[in-house]
Amino acid sequence: MAISNEKIEQMMASIQELKAAKEQEIEELRVKWLGRKGEITQLFDEFRTVDKDQKREFGQRLNALKNAAAAKIEELRNTLEEMAGPAAASFDLTKPGDLEELGARHPISVTREEIISIFSKFGYSVAEGPEIEDDWHVFSALNFPPEHPARDMQDTFFVQPEGDNPILLRTHTSSVQVRTMERMRPPIRVICPGRVFRNEAISARAHCIFHQVEGLYIDKNVSFADMKQAILLFAQEMFGADTQIRMRPSYFPFTEPSAEVDVSCNICKGKGCNICKGTGWLEILGCGMVDPNVLAASGIDPTVYSGFAFGMGIERIAMLKWQVKDLRNYFENDIRFLRQFEAAI
Ligand code: DAH
Repeated sequence: MAISNEKIEQMMASIQELKAAKEQEIEELRVKWLGRKGEITQLFDEFRTVDKDQKREFGQRLNALKNAAAAKIEELRNTLEEMAGPAAASFDLTKPGDLEELGARHPISVTREEIISIFSKFGYSVAEGPEIEDDWHVFSALNFPPEHPARDMQDTFFVQPEGDNPILLRTHTSSVQVRTMERMRPPIRVICPGRVFRNEAISARAHCIFHQVEGLYIDKNVSFADMKQAILLFAQEMFGADTQIRMRPSYFPFTEPSAEVDVSCNICKGKGCNICKGTGWLEILGCGMVDPNVLAASGIDPTVYSGFAFGMGIERIAMLKWQVKDLRNYFENDIRFLRQFEAAI
């Protein structure tokens, strides 16, 4: 076929489309287009017969075609080399896949969710407050006297210790009680889960960061008996229907009267074992009737309203539920420890 612009354009288009998967195919393409009897070489032969006045134009076009073919062949070679590089070598489609490690929820989250879901059945909603708090919400409004040891540098991490109302990391979630009472009018029924901070040496039984859930119920005519029933129902939902509770008199600045609550040991069913240290009972929380001073400090009239509050450590509840002996396990994120709770989730 005689040389023509159309033909050169067609060939240019075909060259752009060239593909090859193997070195040998590339070589075949090179021979087909640029070899001694290749298509472009043949065009150069025909070029000799072209009229003189067209030589310049066709010459340029033919050279461009030849360069494009050479560039395309080069490009195919480079692509093939890249694919054969280290990445390609490790991409073996016949290999079995890598097993994806599935995560699981942390036992502390699982326990927190369980506590929330039990209390939400009793009509409690979740309230939250800041971890960086002021003295008023953590201590003063909760009836802590100015000289109380909890305010001491020994127990509390201060962010800004100076001034009338120091800034600190909250040492308990009871601060959320105060924030809730400032914000809401009775009836109030909330639980407040959150992180708390204490300046403690880390051991099997203590940590400087841990989690609590605070409960607060305020309305007209709320009694100690109401509190006892709420805590009994919670304990039975959490530890089993045959769980019993007992209350021991205690002291907290923000409640009067105050109590500590034990549940019957769910391991030995009250007979006495090494988990309950032979007593048959395990302490789970502190509670009491909200002190009238605390109600008044947050603008709730203690002559009209009464209420109860309780606070528990989530780590402690989780330790009792799963018989974890060392608190530090919860913070070390050792996958061998965490995996054991997958079944519980
Ligand atoms: N705030 C107490 C603590 O950190 C726990 C507590 C005890 C909370 C009695 C209460 C309560 O609301 O009534 O140990």
